[in-house]
Amino acid sequence: MRSTVLALGAAALLGAGTVLADDIPTCSLDKKCPESAPCCSQYGQCGVGAYCLGGCDPRMSFSLESCVPAPVCQDKTYKMDKASMSKIVDIGKYLGDPSKADWVSQGEPVNYNDNTLLTMPKNSVGTVLASTSYMCDVKDEIDYEFVGTELKTAQTNYYFQGIPSYVNSGNITITDSWANWHEYEIRWTPDQIQWLVDGQVGRTKKKSETWNATANQWDFPQTPSRVQLSIWPGGLASNAKGTIDWAGGPISWDHEDIKNYGYYFTTFGEITVKCWNADSGPGTNKGKSYYYNSYRATNDTVVDSNKRTTLESFLGTGTDMDKGKVTGTKSSATKSGGAAETTLPNSIPGAGSAPANVPGGGSGTSCEEGGNGQSPSNANNGVRTTGSVQMGASALAAVVGFVGLMFL
Ligand SMILES: *[C@@H]1O[C@H](CO)[C@@H](O)[C@H](O)[C@H]1NC(C)=O
Ligand SMILES: *[C@@H]1O[C@H](CO)[C@@H](O)[C@H](O)[C@H]1NC(C)=O
Ligand SMILES: *[C@@H]1O[C@H](CO)[C@@H](O)[C@H](O)[C@H]1NC(C)=O
Repeated sequence: MRSTVLALGAAALLGAGTVLADDIPTCSLDKKCPESAPCCSQYGQCGVGAYCLGGCDPRMSFSLESCVPAPVCQDKTYKMDKASMSKIVDIGKYLGDPSKADWVSQGEPVNYNDNTLLTMPKNSVGTVLASTSYMCDVKDEIDYEFVGTELKTAQTNYYFQGIPSYVNSGNITITDSWANWHEYEIRWTPDQIQWLVDGQVGRTKKKSETWNATANQWDFPQTPSRVQLSIWPGGLASNAKGTIDWAGGPISWDHEDIKNYGYYFTTFGEITVKCWNADSGPGTNKGKSYYYNSYRATNDTVVDSNKRTTLESFLGTGTDMDKGKVTGTKSSATKSGGAAETTLPNSIPGAGSAPANVPGGGSGTSCEEGGNGQSPSNANNGVRTTGSVQMGASALAAVVGFVGLMFL
């Protein structure tokens, strides 16, 4: 039995699992959300409440103001120990105040030996943790990805506004992704992205190499982001064939880890985020929040602001943040009030449990940068861990480092 574990990093992408409900309106660049469900979630579906918080894409929402302004970056080291589990809050309980939670979760994070495990029980879609400060929206993303059948490779990738591109990836050879702890770091500045493993630069991508003459812009991640960590079943039959192949083949739910522990998992020991603070806006991180003032969603369209970032209930949106506010006595509040109404079908994105669209995998659904992740054990076909870190606004960048292990 393999007792060990390994580590990984962090960042995130979207990914992990989500289930898409059939009866909820979908959204894309060509199809914005309706006024009644104005916010486009990172999974491409329209709703209110948590749909308007982290991951809400202003370009695909009813209006640029539909998404709630996102909290700015904070320098911080997140211990992933037992005490910090109280700072991980389920997405169905978080209304946008980063002082109340460090991470928003979907799935089943677990504490083990004073580290945090992201788990993926049989037939689940895995677990995702997204940082609460510095939300990302327009699908710029920087990743580390670890495949269960490639134990000596840390794959790196980046996306600009979620545009699928199959030439942006690069591999870093590592000694193992599961037997020893490793530190995965993304150093993202306005001019370049560097991926470091255990302190050694494994890959560098310069912004100067990303000019797109057709679009007349730099296809380089350049907007505020958050850190996302996830483990997800890339090898599910419902995923695209390219994703299944990339994940190492169809997933096996009979692996010894499932038998021995009840889930596949990846382990995180500590995550550090260091913000890039621009001298002038956008990206100073001096205010409270930021929002976009143009559908172009490039670095110069990010606005530093002091607008509030919190909703009063899961009925709210960026243009009606007080909706569902509880007034009057506590008892009447319980009857009519805000948070009690989280049962609307489309107020919590990704709730459910079916497999989702391809996370991280290049589907262009995510929005993060940095990070690292890792994957699993040998013979774990079809399992992937993804990490990304994001930071910075506008040309902001951030340095993120993660230490993690994975057991498989
Ligand atoms: C990275 O490694 C994977 C797995 O071995 C391989 O499929 C992929 O083509 C490699 N990517 C690059 C850019 O070399
Ligand atoms: C350049 O931008 C256009 C328009 O967004 C996009 O379709 C194309 O794929 C980009 N080119 C490359 C090489 O990524
Ligand atoms: C946005 O990026 C452009 C191109 O790299 C750069 O010249 C400009 O200074 C950046 N603007 C801001 C506000 O960061």
